[in-house]
Amino acid sequence: MAECHTGQKRILVTGGSGLVGRAIQHVINEEGGGKEGEQWSFLSSKDANLMNKEETQAVFQKHKPTHVIHLAAMVGGLFKNMRVNLDFWRNNIYINDNVLQAAHDVAAVKVVSCLSTCIFPDKTTYPINETMIHNGPPHQSNFGYSYAKRMIDVYNRAYVEQNGRSYTSVIPTNVFGPHDNFNIEDGHVLPGLIHKAYIAQKEEKPLVVWGSGSPRRQFIYSLDLARLILWVVREYNEVEPIILSVGEEEEVSIKEAAEAVVRALDFKGEVVYDTDKSDGQFKKTASNEKLMRYLPDFPFTPFDKALKDTCDWFVANYDDARK
Ligand SMILES: NC(=O)c1ccc[n+]([C@@H]2O[C@H](COP(=O)([O-])OP(=O)(O)OC[C@H]3O[C@@H](n4cnc5c(N)ncnc54)[C@H](OP(=O)(O)O)[C@@H]3O)[C@@H](O)[C@H]2O)c1
Repeated sequence: MAECHTGQKRILVTGGSGLVGRAIQHVINEEGGGKEGEQWSFLSSKDANLMNKEETQAVFQKHKPTHVIHLAAMVGGLFKNMRVNLDFWRNNIYINDNVLQAAHDVAAVKVVSCLSTCIFPDKTTYPINETMIHNGPPHQSNFGYSYAKRMIDVYNRAYVEQNGRSYTSVIPTNVFGPHDNFNIEDGHVLPGLIHKAYIAQKEEKPLVVWGSGSPRRQFIYSLDLARLILWVVREYNEVEPIILSVGEEEEVSIKEAAEAVVRALDFKGEVVYDTDKSDGQFKKTASNEKLMRYLPDFPFTPFDKALKDTCDWFVANYDDARK
């Protein structure tokens, strides 16, 4: 667990060792993104297993946070989700119930939790926006994760209504960046492609992209997301979730993402598409109109630059990277 700054706001980040948590650590510790009067603490599963109620209560009693950024979750890509939907449902329900109640028990004034655009209804109109979360069943591939995440919004409204607390949530699109999970079987599409291209390059074999390459995704760089989450914890006062995403026009196909990885790693081999593998949801185009109303000039890092920085980080940290 890492700590810095002293003062009256004690901000506790669950999942502080993950992709998004490490990005927040970077912004606070390396970019001077912390403010006077803020004390930051970042938890990993080594500090407490948040599926366990007693351990969660103990770690919250120890830190007595005034503010909580709740990132900890069982997270995985399409193929892991399809294998263990039950685990995604149960583990995330336990974690969320324990964390939100422990925050209440120590009288934390604000909790910001993390949803995802992949929890929205499968059959929907586009672009999706914050009002549509509960409008229909999620995609069959990840229903366990999706329903568990949707329940955070239910918790938030109930904590606000019954206890007058400031609980809210953010909805990022696909996140990528340094410290991602680059596991090919269980990780998300972009880190998986980066890892596969890295190996294919070394072994002088083709890069095999799973699926047709036609599904479309919006990607957000973890450091951009971290900066936005800091703004949410300090300034955003609605219980309703807010989508944290690049614009709809920034959506790319998996094929375009694979080509960007090829450029970033200077991969020279052939790229082939394994259409026997599932494509997952075709698209989940999200509107960032609400975010743009609050922060019209937010400077998103260009996709190619963020991808290049991520690939460079992966190559430089290959031995220690999660994979
Ligand atoms: N990655 C994406 O594309 C994406 C997109 C939308 C939303 N989100 C959401 O963003 C949040 C952060 O995701 P991420 O990508 O940063 O995930 P990640 O890299 O997989 O990190 C997960 C974090 O949760 C912690 N954690 C998991 N199980 C735990 C447990 N039982 N007890 C305590 N800590 C536990 C992990 O601790 P250890 O390091 O000790 O294992 C780690 O710090 C999640 O809520 C996720 O649903 C992610």
